[in-house]
Formats: sequence, structure tokens, C-alpha cells
Amino acid sequence: MPRAVTVEPTVALAGRVALPPDKSVSHRAAILAALAEGESELVGFSDAADPRATLACLRALGVEVREEAGSLLVRGVGPRGFRVPEGPLDCGNAGTTMRLLAGVLAGQPFASVLTGDASLSRRPMDRIAEPLRLMGARVTLDDGHAPVQIEGGRLSGIEYRLPVASAQVKSCVLLAGLLAEGATTVVEPVPTRDHTERMLGLPVFDLGGERRIAVEGGMRVRPGLWVVPRDFSAAAFFLVAASVVENTTLELRQVGLNPTRAALLDVLRAMGARIDVANEREHAGEPLGDVRVYAPGGLVGVEVGGALIPSLIDELPVLAVAAACAEGRTTIRDAAELRHKETDRLAATAAFLRTMGAAVEEREDGLVIEGGRPLHGATVESAGDHRIAMAAAIAALAASSPTTIRDADCVAVSFPGFWEVLDGLAGGGIVSDEDDGPRTTDHGR
Ligand code: S3P
Repeated sequence: MPRAVTVEPTVALAGRVALPPDKSVSHRAAILAALAEGESELVGFSDAADPRATLACLRALGVEVREEAGSLLVRGVGPRGFRVPEGPLDCGNAGTTMRLLAGVLAGQPFASVLTGDASLSRRPMDRIAEPLRLMGARVTLDDGHAPVQIEGGRLSGIEYRLPVASAQVKSCVLLAGLLAEGATTVVEPVPTRDHTERMLGLPVFDLGGERRIAVEGGMRVRPGLWVVPRDFSAAAFFLVAASVVENTTLELRQVGLNPTRAALLDVLRAMGARIDVANEREHAGEPLGDVRVYAPGGLVGVEVGGALIPSLIDELPVLAVAAACAEGRTTIRDAAELRHKETDRLAATAAFLRTMGAAVEEREDGLVIEGGRPLHGATVESAGDHRIAMAAAIAALAASSPTTIRDADCVAVSFPGFWEVLDGLAGGGIVSDEDDGPRTTDHGR
């Protein structure tokens, strides 16, 4: 049975947050290191379940990965050196693993199958099948879903305009483009996270308000050193926690601050949050910095939508928690993509917030939250989605009585140790395991 966790309300959080390494950068560093010829060192690679699924698939494709002194050493096989896998490649819960690897496998001279868990098997895969078929691969789906069966081979470069704002689709096409004949260009009407193009050093042009990212077939990926920043999407839970729990100061170090990821900073500041960023620097093309967040006097509602959405897509459930604790109305629109994540995150967010007493209207493409109603404790469902479980945990801190979050182990998909980190910031006693009973004494209000 997956475990349930109970979170007590709290009046103060303090300390330095031990954040996990960035999930998106970890996936890409592993795949690019595999495509390079020679050994790469990955420093600070994520230990979360999703990036581990990528490593397991790469190993099944003949890539040697070993751990040494806290780093991962990946012996790249080059673009054509992959081994025929003995069976289906299991991507677990990870959409990024499935969609990015599909791009690599489309250019291989063998057939392969990508499978995933029940959640991943419900997510749309026609969005990658379509461009890969245009490039010349044979891709078969089950009614638009995994298993993804790929008969790879010779690919031709294409120009592809993204019909959905998706960094996973963009990255899939760019990786296939590396293995194709001729040039491939991805056109993005709305910017999405740009780790792949940064890490590959690809030329990007802005034309008429659209981004055009070009890759030459046959471009060599160089082996080297990848330093993975701490995950902004994990930091987001604590940025909101510090903004809704009084008497709080939290410090978050080496946080990835790529602008295509970090729009939540500006949105929270517009709501009244107090967030300082210091020591801004860059590692392997990725900006990072140290963040300090303090309890503000109070938050106010905000409107978010349009081109901003992809830059905070994974942070919207926890933004909704901030909105529920803010004065006034918050409107989130243009976010229908949230329905295609690990679960339908618009429905799941509305469900846990309403169960806790918030006034939330669910719309086709977003949420309208009338903030300021006191939250109360309840038993809520994570729906097996890591970001829903963690967002509910932050709402629980600001509630008037304990909240039980069911199916709480799913946090390991992106943030193993989340429950322990949260408990530690409160000085212990706010998080307890339903099966084992409370770990320490009650520090709740
Ligand atoms: C990701 C891109 C986003 C995001 C996901 C990770 C990536 O998905 O939601 O958690 O690493 O490229 P889409 O690009 O499909 O929106």
C-alpha cells in the first residue's frame, strides 16, 4: 500500500532547504552524454525516480554508467553506437524519458519499444509520433498512447512548428534532428524551457515573435562535464511555503534560474512575496543563484495566462495554493496542458483545495480561486502525482488542522526526501507517517 502522510499546521519554518538536482537538466545531461563519444562526468545528477528511469533505459541500450565520488560517469557510445535493447524500455512515470528517448531511437537502425506506468500510458504521445513520422521513422501507438513502438532508420531533417507549447516535443525533434540528414528547425510560437538548445549550444533566432531553433544533422555532441543546478520546480514549493506561513525565512542555494523555468518568481513577487536572489552565476549555460524568501505581510490575487504559462507550467498547482491564501481573486488561464500531466492537474488541484475549504472554480483551461477563505485540514488525494502531493503539503502548513495526503510516496518521482526536508524546516513533528504514527512531538499551532 502506498503510504499516507499527515502534515500539521505550522507557525514558522526556518533553515536552508536541501533541494534535489534539476530533473529536466538531469535527463538531458544523461542523454547527451550517451550520444557523445567518450566519457562525461555528471555532477549533482538527480537521484529521483524519473531521471533514474532515463539512466536505466540508457543502460539497456548499452551505455555504461557508473558512480564515482558522488558523480556519474557516463561512457557515451556516440550517435550510432547503441545496442539493440533486449526488451521494452521502461520509462516508469517519466514523460521526459519517453519523449526525448523516442527522438534518439527514431534515428537508430533497429526497432524498440518504450513503455511506462499507468499514468504515463494515459498521456498523449501522438505529439511526438507525428514529427518523427514526418522525419521518416515508423512509429506505432496504442490509440495515441504508449507503448511507443519505433522502427528507426534514416531520418530527414524537417522544419516543424510546435502545435503545442512543449519542451519535450521540441527536444524530441531536436534530438532526432541530430541523427537526421540535413538541417532540422523547430519553430516555437511560445517559448518553452530551453535546456536542450542551451546544452547543445544550438543557434536560436527570434523571428516575428517566434523562436526558431536549428540543428544540423550529424552534429557531434562533445563529452564533458555537466553540473546540474538545484531544481527550481522543487524550490517552488518552499517559495510558496515561506509566503503563506508567517515567521518564516528560508534559504535555497544553487537554484536553477533559467528564465524559461522561473516565471513563478515574478508572479509571487507581484502577489506580494518577499524573495531575494544573490550570487547569480552560470554553469554550462544554465543561470543559477541563491534565493532567500521571507514571510510577507500578506499576498494578493493575480492573473496569469498567455505566453507566461509554459515558464511556470509545473508550478501552477502550488501557485494555486498561494492564491487560496491570498486576498482577492486569482485567475489562471491558457493552462489546458495541465490536464495532460502525470494526472489532470487542474482537476486534482481544484479537488484538494476545495476539500480543504478553498473556493475554486475549474475552467476548461484554468482555475479561478477566490482567496482568503481559511483552509482546514482534510484527507486529500495526490492522485499518484508528485507535484499534487507536494502542493497539498504546502496548503496543509497553512490550514487550521492536520491534513492527510494519500499516496504520498510519489514525491520520489522528483524529490526523494521531500517529507523529511519539510519536517526538518519546522523543527520536526509536523510530518507523520500514517502507518508508523507521529515521529516526534507536535509543534503545530
Ligand atoms: C519538461 C517539460 C514540461 C514539464 C515537464 C518536464 C522537460 O513538459 O511539464 O515536467 O523536461 O522538457 P512539456 O514540455 O510537455 O510541457
